[in-house]
Amino acid sequence: MNIIETEAISKRYDDFLAVNRVDLQVPEDSIYGVLGPNGAGKTTLISMLCTILHPTSGRGWVNGYDIVRESKKVRESIGIVFQSRALDDILTGREHLEMHAALYGVPGDIRKQRIEEVLELIALGDKADEYVKTYSGGMKRRLEIGRGLIHHPRVLFLDEPTLGLDPQTRESIWKYIRKLNREEDVTVLLTTHYMEEADKLCDEVAIMSRGRIIKADAPRNLKRELGADKITVKVDRAGEFYELIGKQDYVREAFISGDEIKLLVEAGENLIPEIVNFAAARGFYIRSVELEHPTLEDVFIKYTGSGIGGEA
Ligand SMILES: Nc1ncnc2c1ncn2[C@@H]1O[C@H](COP(=O)(O)OP(=O)(O)OP(=O)(O)O)[C@@H](O)[C@H]1O
Ligand SMILES: [Mg+2]
Repeated sequence: MNIIETEAISKRYDDFLAVNRVDLQVPEDSIYGVLGPNGAGKTTLISMLCTILHPTSGRGWVNGYDIVRESKKVRESIGIVFQSRALDDILTGREHLEMHAALYGVPGDIRKQRIEEVLELIALGDKADEYVKTYSGGMKRRLEIGRGLIHHPRVLFLDEPTLGLDPQTRESIWKYIRKLNREEDVTVLLTTHYMEEADKLCDEVAIMSRGRIIKADAPRNLKRELGADKITVKVDRAGEFYELIGKQDYVREAFISGDEIKLLVEAGENLIPEIVNFAAARGFYIRSVELEHPTLEDVFIKYTGSGIGGEA
């Protein structure tokens, strides 16, 4: 079942179409990523799903509720962690969670226990009674995510959850996102412009560019569709080797330039020993072998015609 769906949803600012007829299908319990460069329309799209912005046209449903006609029901179903950070330095972590629990109507008798659960989940138990101003960037982000979860939402929206964090902290945030996805049965819809985040964290990724979703699938399918692994072999008597190896069934295409041969193949790992043995058996001296898989960046370039910019 899809817990989020849209049909040709669009948002126009004056004469600028920020989101252009997007059809989105987000499977329940998945971690779903909307990947796109600055200005692609990611925040605008999820703001409509969170009922913060009204679509100009088209429709959308979250947890089965219409985002325009049943916006109150939608709001009860979701948690939001948005790009603009909003934590108060002079409150403790626990106070933040208490405030949010009250705001979202978490009943008083279960509030305490729920706060403990969430603190445990985001591993802030030890720091719960310290002021937020003493927290690191990663701890603040975890607290924001925990706050978004306090009322047991079915869907958690995270707008650029790891923006500006160092790589190590980013990976630790991914760990918490996976954990809450699993343990809280919450569907996570996140936006990102980090290729690696989309690739490693998300079950499915929608590639967004200039207001449109160009392609959506599991990262591994997106990459697989792009085709082959590339094996680069440096070898003596390259011309001769090229003639022989190019005829092997497992080689889809072969290219030669100088002493370097590039082979497009499926499942490159399994073939490397085969190629090395093939060369050795015929008296060729291989100087190096390198394997490259297609990356999500390659996929992105194929569908949008350019890199994502800002980050390699
Ligand atoms: N209130 C607004 N009025 C006019 N134009 C807007 C408004 N909000 C956003 N836009 C424009 O709509 C486009 C999409 O913006 P949006 O913030 O959704 O992109 P984004 O993908 O979230 O980008 P980023 O990665 O920088 O957060 C941008 O060109 C932006 O300038
Ligand atoms: Mg944005």
